[in-house]
Amino acid sequence: MEQDNKQEYSSRLISSLPYYGVIYIFVIVALITAGYVYFKNIDFITMNSKNILPKQLDSAQAFMLDIAVKKGVTSPPVDVYKLSVSTPELVAKGKGLYESTCSPCHGPDGKGDGPAGANLNPKPRNFHELTGWTNGPSFDKIYLTLQEGITNRGMASYANIPPEDRIAIIQYIRSLNPGYPAISQDGLKALDAAYSLSQGVKQPNQIPVKTAIQKILNDEKGRDSLINKIKMDITANTTDAGAVIFKNKTRSQSRAVNFLADNMKWNDNKNDLAKLIMSDPYSAGFKTEIVSLSDEEWNQLYSYLKNVFSAIKV
Ligand code: HEC
Repeated sequence: MEQDNKQEYSSRLISSLPYYGVIYIFVIVALITAGYVYFKNIDFITMNSKNILPKQLDSAQAFMLDIAVKKGVTSPPVDVYKLSVSTPELVAKGKGLYESTCSPCHGPDGKGDGPAGANLNPKPRNFHELTGWTNGPSFDKIYLTLQEGITNRGMASYANIPPEDRIAIIQYIRSLNPGYPAISQDGLKALDAAYSLSQGVKQPNQIPVKTAIQKILNDEKGRDSLINKIKMDITANTTDAGAVIFKNKTRSQSRAVNFLADNMKWNDNKNDLAKLIMSDPYSAGFKTEIVSLSDEEWNQLYSYLKNVFSAIKV
């Protein structure tokens, strides 16, 4: 009985094999079609997985609790003298504000290691270290940084945050290292005078962090392409006396161009240019022999460079 069943089953299997054959052909055709479509679009597919923006920004944007665009308002007067004395409440308030606004770049613990800062150069400041700051770690200098930003180095202005909240954030930052400079009464006085804090401050419009980051990346991209254009102009120019001097007296043209672009204050006058380069020609990308240029040659170099760097913001 059992034997019969088996036989019947296998004979049925054998008789239906031709149908399976049809299915195989169908599957193979489908695979070939899919493969063809994939390879035809391979550029498009890989381009989509490579983001135009650096990858880390996506993850940052995903978790960032962003602020909304808001019209400027006038903030109430602030007592800087009172707020300059740290209290646990002030630090706790500052920590909350820090976490929503600053940690994407400066990291959850203020170590400068936030995901949105990973592609920035220079890196966001590590608030546990007190050396190498651009404006400085003193209370009034941090306030200045928040007010003005250091936009050419990737730090946006946070003038949209009310002064009182900014001071709370500063107090939180200061709590990360006991070595922050003591707050001087003179510093506070100057700060109050500079921003009329005890009179109330008109807040500018607030923009989302995402927009701020985008703005900075665009600024940087714009700047990079300006610098590349300057490098090409210099390479292409074989007639201008200043261009020729520049090429003869640099050991690295690229380094010298970047150095000049980073220190645009030289473009006021020839003496500033000479002083700037001569203070350390080697690290600025120049040959040390540049110190023996004649006055006339400095003139030629200056007027050429001033012209070719005119698109860079001072
Ligand atoms: C888009 C990323 C980004 C965000 C968001 C950001 N920062 Fe920064 N910040 C930077 C970068 C980059 C630097 C480094 C600039 C430099 O080295 O001159 C910096 C530097 C600083 C400095 C040091 C300035 C100095 O003198 O060297 C302070 C203080 C600071 N940020 C405070 C803040 C605070 C407070 C917030 C939040 C309200 C914040 N930052 C949000 C990127 C960011």
